[in-house]
Parts: sequence; structure tokens; C-alpha cells
Amino acid sequence: MTDNVKAIPVIAIDGPSASGKGTVAQAVAGSLGFHYLDSGALYRIVGLAVVRARGNLENESEVLSILLKINIKFQRDQVLLDGADVAETIRAEPISAAASKVGALAQVRAALLARQHEFRQAPGLVADGRDMGSVVFPDSVLKIYLTASAEARAERRYKQLIGKGFDANMAALLQEIKLRDQRDSERAAAPLQKYTDAFEVDTTRLTVAQSIASVLDYYHRVTVN
Ligand code: DC
Repeated sequence: MTDNVKAIPVIAIDGPSASGKGTVAQAVAGSLGFHYLDSGALYRIVGLAVVRARGNLENESEVLSILLKINIKFQRDQVLLDGADVAETIRAEPISAAASKVGALAQVRAALLARQHEFRQAPGLVADGRDMGSVVFPDSVLKIYLTASAEARAERRYKQLIGKGFDANMAALLQEIKLRDQRDSERAAAPLQKYTDAFEVDTTRLTVAQSIASVLDYYHRVTVN
């Protein structure tokens, strides 16, 4: 990494699924005029590509060979897999589970590392994921662990899916979220964890606006000289 790149500030926002990371991270990026990295989308695209190829989501070499063949591009609101927009498709629940499975594979994580580093561009980056502050951008100026109770997260996901016209079942979503938390935090490769240098923001009882304000407040505090 050159000194120029090192000087570009990164805000890492990590946390479990459906904790509001995407919404908060995008708003913080918008407010500061920073770039935004949705690292989960990368894992979701890989999950989708493997499902479409009828591959085994837990077979590292199979997943890796599919990953090396696909073309991934982010373009404004679009997420392109081999040129086709899959921004909506990757949000469906089966693809969430597929993303969580491919995310457990160490070689897949390694293969996606350089792609994530490319997002670090001036004037700054807000990166959202599970291991942004621990592995991908360990020199982030601010590390946030954004969380909420599993119940609150299941309810948010439910509303989000229904709003987008997908089918959803509260009990099944809660179970899936708990399973995904377990898989994401118990895996050997870059597990989801609240690392010690992160500030925790629990959004269970916060509005979206309060959650955004809290992260911006931390940022202003750490950047005050
Ligand atoms: O943030 P998300 O819910 O879109 O992520 C989907 C899955 O991708 C998540 O369950 C685990 C995996 N993931 C990961 O392993 N590492 C990241 N930095 C982001 C997502």
C-alpha cells in the first residue's frame, strides 16, 4: 500500500446481518462525501453465481473456480454479474444463506481482498461488512460494531422483504438470522466479532437517523485534533 492510499481515511462498519449496516453506512458515506463499499454484496454475488451454476456452496475449490470466472461490477445503484443487474436478486433470503456459506471459505475471502481494497479512494471510504476493521482495512480511522437484537433484525428484514414484494415469514427469518449469526461468528476464517478497538452502536432502540448521527459523532470525535 502506498503512503497516498494509507492517507485515505476508512470508516469500518461491521456487524451481524440486518443490523442496519447498509443504510447507516451509505448515509454516513453520503454525508461525508465518501465512497461506499458493500462487501456483503460481493459474497452475495459469489453465492448467486454458485447457486446458478448448481455448484456446492461448501466446496472451496468449486466455489473458487466459479468466482474466478465471473465478472463483478458496481455501477451506481446496479450490481452487475457478467453484465446483468442482480442488485435485487442478491437480496433474496436463499442468496443470503448462500453468501454466508461461501463467506466461510478462506480462499474465497482471500480472492475478494484485492477487489475490496480497490474501493479505498479519495476523499475516503465507508466499508460495511463483517471483517472490514479486523482484516480488510485494519488501519481504519474509525471502527464501528453495529448491532441489534436478533428479533429487531428479523423484524426489519421482514419489512424490507415484504416492501420489495418478496415472500417472508417472521419465524423462519428469525431462525435464519440466528443460524447466519452462528455461521458468521463461528467460522475459522475472519469470523464476525466485536474487536476491541471498535465502538459498539446497538440500534435495537435507535431510529435510523439516531444510528447515523451516532456514527458521525464518533467520526468527528476521532478526527478532532
Ligand atoms: O452484509 P450482508 O448480510 O449482505 O452479508 C451477506 C453474507 O456475506 C453474510 O452472512 C456473511 C458474508 N459476508 C462476509 O463473510 N464478510 C463480509 N465482509 C460481508 C459479508
